[in-house]
Amino acid sequence: MQSELHIPVMLDEVLDALRPALGGVYWDLTLGAGGHLSAWLSQAPDSAQGYAVDGDPEAIHRCRHLSAVIAHADLRSLSVAASTWPSPNAVLADFGLSSPQVDTAVRGFSYRLDGPLDMRMDPTQGQPAAEWLEDISQDELAHCLRNYAEVKYPGRIARVIKERLPISTTAELADAVIAAVPGGPRRRAHPARKTFQAIRIAVNHEFEKIESGLSYALERLTIGGRIAAITFHSGEDRVVKQLFRRHSQARGSAFRLVNKKPIAASDDEAQKNPRARSAKLRIIERVTSSSLS
Ligand SMILES: C[S@@+](CC[C@H](N)C(=O)[O-])C[C@H]1O[C@@H](n2cnc3c(N)ncnc32)[C@H](O)[C@@H]1O
Repeated sequence: MQSELHIPVMLDEVLDALRPALGGVYWDLTLGAGGHLSAWLSQAPDSAQGYAVDGDPEAIHRCRHLSAVIAHADLRSLSVAASTWPSPNAVLADFGLSSPQVDTAVRGFSYRLDGPLDMRMDPTQGQPAAEWLEDISQDELAHCLRNYAEVKYPGRIARVIKERLPISTTAELADAVIAAVPGGPRRRAHPARKTFQAIRIAVNHEFEKIESGLSYALERLTIGGRIAAITFHSGEDRVVKQLFRRHSQARGSAFRLVNKKPIAASDDEAQKNPRARSAKLRIIERVTSSSLS
């Protein structure tokens, strides 16, 4: 089943990697609209079991009809949420945002839709982006823009943002970025795209959560089991790549990389679904129970 709200990215490649025909236990670390989870379950034998988390309470509410155990938890608390779940032989992490998150102005993720500057995946936790911008120094902001999303002109953008505070809407933030970057021929991408991405990563502590959630899943993975991770930009991909390398390259490692290079979406998919264009899929498999990795 495919949700009309969000098209699951690289679905065929994920199903190839996570082999639903083998059945067993599937963990979905980023439930979203439940597209990958329902597709895996629909191709698995009846005895297969699905378990999923999402940090966004709306994702949990939206997927409550699915025949799976679903918990509201972010990836930093996966070890608590999943402590009583059976160990998985198939795990998916499909990072970033779901279409309902980006397309809902009030969530404050989009530079194209005017809304309150929030950007929290879980609006019941942490600081909205508008408050975070007040608390952080100009230097820390420039550092975040540069390091989380390779933003061009991070110093100028950070200065204009700090000068214009308080910034309480997405449109005000987008305007500040446009005012900060030099004019001339505009790139095809919106000038504020990467700034929004960097601030969202910081507000949600995304990199720490990716590392923490995947590390716990690696610990719990059964022998022969696989984790598939889809990322959407170089910062995210670096976290996954380094974690999978650390686990697969040590001598006597319990894991192997299924694909040395990340898999990209087909041209056909990239044409039909623009979100798939930057997607990268990495797969790791547990080969022994050794804990030397
Ligand atoms: C791209 S969507 C997943 C879409 C899903 N695979 C599908 O087919 O519908 C990513 C989801 O992961 C969640 N998410 C991202 N980072 C998270 C984190 N650190 N902890 C928990 N959930 C997270 C987001 O809230 C979002 O719902």
